Amino acid sequence: MLFKKKNTEIDLSSLDMKKVVSDAKLQHIAFIMDGNGRWAQNRGLPREAGHKVGVEAFRRIANKCKEYGIGTITIYAFSTENWARPKNEVNEIMRLLDKYISEAEKEDAENRSQYHVLGDKERLGADLKAKCEYLEDFTKDNPYVVNIALNYGGRDEIVRAANRLIAEGKTEITEEDISSNLFTSHSPDPDLIVRSGGEYRLSNFLMWQSAYSELYFCDTLWPDMDDMDLRKAIVEFSKRKRRFGGI
Ligand code: FPP
Repeated sequence: MLFKKKNTEIDLSSLDMKKVVSDAKLQHIAFIMDGNGRWAQNRGLPREAGHKVGVEAFRRIANKCKEYGIGTITIYAFSTENWARPKNEVNEIMRLLDKYISEAEKEDAENRSQYHVLGDKERLGADLKAKCEYLEDFTKDNPYVVNIALNYGGRDEIVRAANRLIAEGKTEITEEDISSNLFTSHSPDPDLIVRSGGEYRLSNFLMWQSAYSELYFCDTLWPDMDDMDLRKAIVEFSKRKRRFGGI
């Protein structure tokens, strides 16, 4: 696939993506996996079918990120607002997550992923909560960090951090205090946030951590996301001038 860069075109498929990632200092990509429902509806299928294929897209993209040397990925699997969806859909997403988590243990040797579940696990039910905690512990020595945001809300996360600090008796807090009390305290802030599905918003995802993230939006519906979409996002990121408020 050819990608326009000013007046020249680059052949994305021939790029050494490890080098692109390393030169661009891309350590952490976060994904808003949007478009599963529309992907299914476009095919006359129930929305749940889109989520099922969405899990396969996630596996594909996560493997490519690892292959390219990206140390941390974060996915928005289920937000605090997603409970408002029809019961069938919520149940199916939870079933897919449960299945994924069970399989992740079996695939540990090839996956080499260190899983973290971001969000309040209490509402997931005792069984899923215990599975998440087991997976986090089981994979804690693996090199590639995979954060799964599940029952996650960015504002909720900040409020929790503030309340924890109040409970510790703090009367004055720093940015570092907040950062170290977020669900993501083990990860660098995302360098790049990719949203599929053609919408241009963050939807309460990583509100604190995204302060200086580069944002990339594409029209591809998540179940169709492939290596070329990922390469395009990374190449676009590599062209951005990050100033972090400086000049
Ligand atoms: C957004 O698409 C997608 C979700 C809210 C759920 C995504 C969750 C999964 C694919 C299961 C997660 C499990 C793993 C481990 C990857 P949408 O339904 O809002 O799509 P639409 O905008 O087309 O309606």
